[in-house]
Amino acid sequence: MDVELIRVEGVDEATAVAAELLAQAAGAGAQIALSGGSTPGPAHELAARLQPDWSRAGVWWGDERCVPPGDERSNYRLAAESLLDLLREPPAVHRIRGELTPQAAALEYDEALRGVTLDLALLGIGPDGHTASLFPSAPSLDETSRLALAASPGLEPLVERVTLSLPALASVGHVVFLVVGADKAEAVERAFARPPDRATPASLVRSREGRTTAIVDTAAAARLT
Ligand code: 6PG
Repeated sequence: MDVELIRVEGVDEATAVAAELLAQAAGAGAQIALSGGSTPGPAHELAARLQPDWSRAGVWWGDERCVPPGDERSNYRLAAESLLDLLREPPAVHRIRGELTPQAAALEYDEALRGVTLDLALLGIGPDGHTASLFPSAPSLDETSRLALAASPGLEPLVERVTLSLPALASVGHVVFLVVGADKAEAVERAFARPPDRATPASLVRSREGRTTAIVDTAAAARLT
């Protein structure tokens, strides 16, 4: 396997491993990309307790839903409530402006990312195998030059997205997938134990020169041997 697999008992242990990675990176002044969904919130909260000083770090996003930052579907809002608002010293925040058109937000984010090396990206995987907002067999998977692009959703919430491209994710120093729950078992198998396939975008996301780690609980790892 081209991925370092960290298999843990359940969601609490997975949260703890991810939080430790986030806290260490933040303390070291890393550029960190976050994602959305229901899994990362508890890891953000624990990371904020472990390391309340993120003043040397920069926070970015792997993807964003095209809604205003106060919308409950916003990945920025998730990070604000579960992490940024809890810190003693905040990081530099580089949010994707979901209130713009998807194309304008993607262009602005692409420009902001130029010349930046993302050190850590904490990503989730959907039951369909998507990661960030790279959905199965979507045209976004063909992008070779842009770092960020507009994308259409394959799953709820059905709002337009802005996502990092595959080349942008490949240049991240440490790609970390955090995946828990039985409904992810098939996607985890396809992402980590089968050949790379456009039907499973997470199988195409690997750090080119750095590390790729998957933190999976027993239920999500059920189909891995
Ligand atoms: C998003 C995401 C997305 C997410 C997965 C897993 O904005 O929706 O960044 O890629 O990470 O869908 O989500 P869960 O943690 O809810 O399973």
